[in-house]
Amino acid sequence: MKEYQKIKGTQDFFGDAILKLRYIENIASSTIKHFGFQEIQTPIFENTDVFIKNVGEESDVVSKEMYTFKDKSDRSITLRPEGTAAVARSYLENKMYANSLPLTKLFYFGPMFRYERPQTGRYREFHQFGVEVYGESSPMLDCDVILSAYTIFSKLGIQNIKLKINSIGNQMSRNHYSQALKDYFQDHIHEMCTDCQRRLNTNPMRILDCKADKDNPILKNAPKIHDYLTDESKSYFDEVIHYLNQFSIPYEIDLNLVRGLDYYTDTVFEFIIESDDELNGLAMGGGGKYSDMIKSMSDRDIPGIGYAFGVERILAIMDKQNAWKELNKGVDVVIIGLDEESKLCGFHLMQELRTENLTVEMDYKNTSMKSQFKLCDKLHPSYIVIIGEEERKTNIYQVKDTSTKTQIGISRNEILTYLHTQLSIKGGN
Ligand code: HAM
Repeated sequence: MKEYQKIKGTQDFFGDAILKLRYIENIASSTIKHFGFQEIQTPIFENTDVFIKNVGEESDVVSKEMYTFKDKSDRSITLRPEGTAAVARSYLENKMYANSLPLTKLFYFGPMFRYERPQTGRYREFHQFGVEVYGESSPMLDCDVILSAYTIFSKLGIQNIKLKINSIGNQMSRNHYSQALKDYFQDHIHEMCTDCQRRLNTNPMRILDCKADKDNPILKNAPKIHDYLTDESKSYFDEVIHYLNQFSIPYEIDLNLVRGLDYYTDTVFEFIIESDDELNGLAMGGGGKYSDMIKSMSDRDIPGIGYAFGVERILAIMDKQNAWKELNKGVDVVIIGLDEESKLCGFHLMQELRTENLTVEMDYKNTSMKSQFKLCDKLHPSYIVIIGEEERKTNIYQVKDTSTKTQIGISRNEILTYLHTQLSIKGGN
């Protein structure tokens, strides 16, 4: 018999894993709402051009990692490898700039797809939580966006996060820098991979994040963007750092940080984890400012800034750091019926309690006390309601508190109120 298997680099989420994914999503989205963001959901696939034009033809994401296919009408379609270009497309298409507010602040959560070599923290389908802000260029906004990510990480209880930050300058800085890189790499290019040889002419900055040549000393000694920043870009970056210094975020200016996507200008940043195992140095999230993307997609000159973090990476780090709180509220009540008629009474009670927002389970089949208690051992309910012949006659059901192991008789009509009161005292409801 053929055994079906999931596609390499993908994961099934069930049991604790799906609860963890939702927990991260809930904390991130409830936190970001306090920063004035509203949710957006764009399609999982887009016209391929959306990514080629904006993420950049020479980026690894576009040139090697996209899931691109032709649909039945011969259109080129791509499963989104990231959210920024797709959200920008939606922002423009839906004329969100016409909103009376000066800024449009959007957040999203969902799967992204990249054909990468699967390894620790790297998947072919992964989830991102991301934010994008359109409408203003301001160092204080850059700092605010970084703070929003840091607040989410803190609310999740993650420790040992470091912010790496750099400026890759405005377009003019980048033009000077590209020329400097061309001059520098010209003499060494024959020692580098074929991709880098091509990038020398098409987009020399992408040589800096080449995975094949990442340990090559030629890369390490390459000119640094900082020496080519215009005065405007320099003072913008100084101001971002000035604001960051007012807060207690551990950060490091990393002059080698350029980010692998073409749309960035000026501020770029990444959050990495410091740990003593294979997760050390892993990028939990990254982002930056992009002043020219909207202009290149439309006739509007609107700057943007944003970031995204990888939910699977956050999940792995929270596992390592034992950072999970109140993951699974569990089951409130299990109902036990000791004969067929009692089971039917229990079945009715279960429906009634569920409509009043309690989580209730019962064993549909067995009538013996012993086998029904097996379900309690698995589900760990806060309360067990026991119904037998005597209880039916008197209309007083036995209610057992599993934490104190005490049992009392409660009138059938008062069970709902009793359970609600007790569970809210325990903080469960
Ligand atoms: P990115 O750095 O390509 O940026 O991805 C952001 C985060 O997604 C990474 O730091 C990492 O945590 C996670 N990630 C990326 N690839 C994988 C993978 N194959 N498996 C698991 N996790 C992964 C962007 O995507 C930009 N759109 C961020 C942004 C938003 N910039 C401005 N706005």
